[in-house]
Amino acid sequence: MITLKSPREIEAMDEAGSVLAQIHEALRDFIKPGITGMDIENYVDKLIKQHGATPEQKGYQGYEYSTCVSVNDEICHGFPRKDVLNQGDLIKVDMVINLNGALADSCWSYSVGEPSADMKKLMEVTREALYKGIEAAQLGNRIGDIGHAIQTFVEAEGFSVVREFIGHGIGPTLHEKPSVPHYGEAGKGGRLKEGMVITIEPMVNTGTWKSQMDANGWTARTQDGGLSCQYEHTIAITKDGPQILTQQQGE
Ligand code: MF3
Ligand code: CO
Repeated sequence: MITLKSPREIEAMDEAGSVLAQIHEALRDFIKPGITGMDIENYVDKLIKQHGATPEQKGYQGYEYSTCVSVNDEICHGFPRKDVLNQGDLIKVDMVINLNGALADSCWSYSVGEPSADMKKLMEVTREALYKGIEAAQLGNRIGDIGHAIQTFVEAEGFSVVREFIGHGIGPTLHEKPSVPHYGEAGKGGRLKEGMVITIEPMVNTGTWKSQMDANGWTARTQDGGLSCQYEHTIAITKDGPQILTQQQGE
């Protein structure tokens, strides 16, 4: 069953989303060569608490951290570690926060120091793919329209879209219906309805889209060791179009 949210519930999720967006904004200056994934975890944890929110990922199905910090070929669910991040690393910081019972979910990619030209292109294409997916999330469109918009754009740029991890409905709990694949056929799947709140979170790889699971049972990385990039917003379907609940300043 897909739960539709009232304007009041969406407003509460928008407030959670704005706190989350501010934390990503703070990370822009925080992330530089020499810091560690664990530094990011501790910093985010502190900011979440300062805003009177709680980290929803910590304890979720046994996950132990407030953030996922996935580096280079890690696609998602990387554990924040004590290894130093170096110039040229591509890191994805994913978090879900809970503000007074309302959730918001957003992952953002960061380059540690200046990115190479190839990495910059991957980041630009992935970010644009997210916004193409959001643009397709119009009332009356279907779920497949979102994935189709993302996949056709990404593949025309010579990159691939991860299949094993997808967007999702979000509400009182983190993962709800519907599933939102970042690939697929236009005109297929369920219709988008007013009051649906979903995440769109394309993971885009330089090489194969196929992933392999680390021994820790959580972290997925590319099979060929290629780079992986991800951007994610939580959005609400409204009659005025898709409303981004995790919108950052200057984005
Ligand atoms: N934020 C992730 C998502 O987009 C969820 C990570 S699962 C967790 O769905 F266990 F790390 F929380
Ligand atoms: Co998500």
